[in-house]
Amino acid sequence: MHALKVICCFIAIYMCINAVQGEKVSVTVYYESLCPDSKKFFTSQLYPALINTNISERVNLTLVPYGLSQQVQVDGQWQFTCHHGAYECVGNKIQACAIKKIEEASPTPAGQGFNPITVAFINCLMDKVENVTKPGQDPEYVFPITNCSEINKVRNSAIIENCRNHIDGSNYLAELGVLTQKLQPPLKSVPTIVFNNAYKKEDSTLAQKNFVEALCQYIKDNKPSECKNSATSLSISISVLLLSLLIKQFL
Ligand SMILES: *[C@@H]1O[C@H](CO)[C@@H](O)[C@H](O)[C@H]1NC(C)=O
Ligand SMILES: *[C@@H]1O[C@H](CO)[C@@H](O)[C@H](O)[C@H]1NC(C)=O
Ligand SMILES: *[C@@H]1O[C@H](CO)[C@@H](O)[C@H](O)[C@H]1NC(C)=O
Ligand SMILES: *[C@@H]1O[C@H](CO)[C@@H](O)[C@H](O)[C@H]1NC(C)=O
Repeated sequence: MHALKVICCFIAIYMCINAVQGEKVSVTVYYESLCPDSKKFFTSQLYPALINTNISERVNLTLVPYGLSQQVQVDGQWQFTCHHGAYECVGNKIQACAIKKIEEASPTPAGQGFNPITVAFINCLMDKVENVTKPGQDPEYVFPITNCSEINKVRNSAIIENCRNHIDGSNYLAELGVLTQKLQPPLKSVPTIVFNNAYKKEDSTLAQKNFVEALCQYIKDNKPSECKNSATSLSISISVLLLSLLIKQFL
C-alpha cells in the first residue's frame, strides 16, 4: 500500500511539473527578406504568436533567412545569388548578422526557445523595408536597421551594420545556406515552415494561414490557452486532486 502511495505521489508531481512547463516544439522557418509571402507569414502569423502569448513558451525557433538563394565560393569568398535580386542578399545578410550579434549583446533568457529582441527586430525589418525603386531603374531597397533597432531596443545596431558589409556577414549567410541545403526534400517554395525537423507540406501550408493551429497539432500535453480543446486545466485538476488525496492520507 505504501509503495503505491509513493508511486502516485511521483506521478502527481510529474504531472504538475509538466503542466507548468511543457515540451517545446521545434519550429524552423525557411524564408527570404524580400519575399512578399514571407513578410505576410512573419508579420501576421509568426510574430503575433510569439509576443505576449502562452503558446510562445512552447516554441523552439530557428530562423533561416536564405530561401531559394545560391552560393559559390570564389577564391575563398562567398558569392550569393538571391531569389529577388541582389538587394535580397543584403537583407538576408543583415538578418543573418542580427541573429548572431543580438544574441551576443542580449542573450536569450534561460529556458526560452527564441531571442525576443531578434524576433522583434527581424519582424520590423520584414514589415518596414522600403521599396525605393525608381521607374525604369534597377530595384532598390532600404532596410531600416536604425529605426528598427531604436524601436526594439537593439543595443548594437552599429555592429550589425558593420557585419553585413564584412566577411562575417557572408560567412553567417553561407551557414544558413548550408542549413537550407540540408532540408529534405529540397526547398521548393518560400516560406517553408517545418515542425520537429520533419517537413510536411500540409503543415507548412496550414502554418501560413494559421500558425497557431499548425503548432497546436504538435503540442500533445498541457495545451496552452491559445490551442483549442485545452487539456491543461484537466491535467492540472487531476494532479491537484491526486495531491490533495495524498496529503489527506499522510496527515
Ligand atoms: C495565459 O495563461 C494564463 C493562465 O492560464 C491566463 O490567465 C492568460 O489569460 C493566458 N494568456 C493569454 C494571452 O492567453
Ligand atoms: C532548442 O533546440 C536546440 C536544438 O535542438 C536545443 O539545443 C536547445 O536546448 C533548445 N532550447 C530550449 C530552450 O528548449
Ligand atoms: C518594388 O517596386 C518596383 C517598382 O514599383 C516593382 O517592380 C517591384 O515588384 C517592387 N518589389 C517588391 C518586392 O514589391
Ligand atoms: C525612420 O525614422 C525616421 C524618424 O522617425 C523617419 O523619418 C523615417 O522615415 C524612418 N525610416 C524608415 C525607413 O522607416
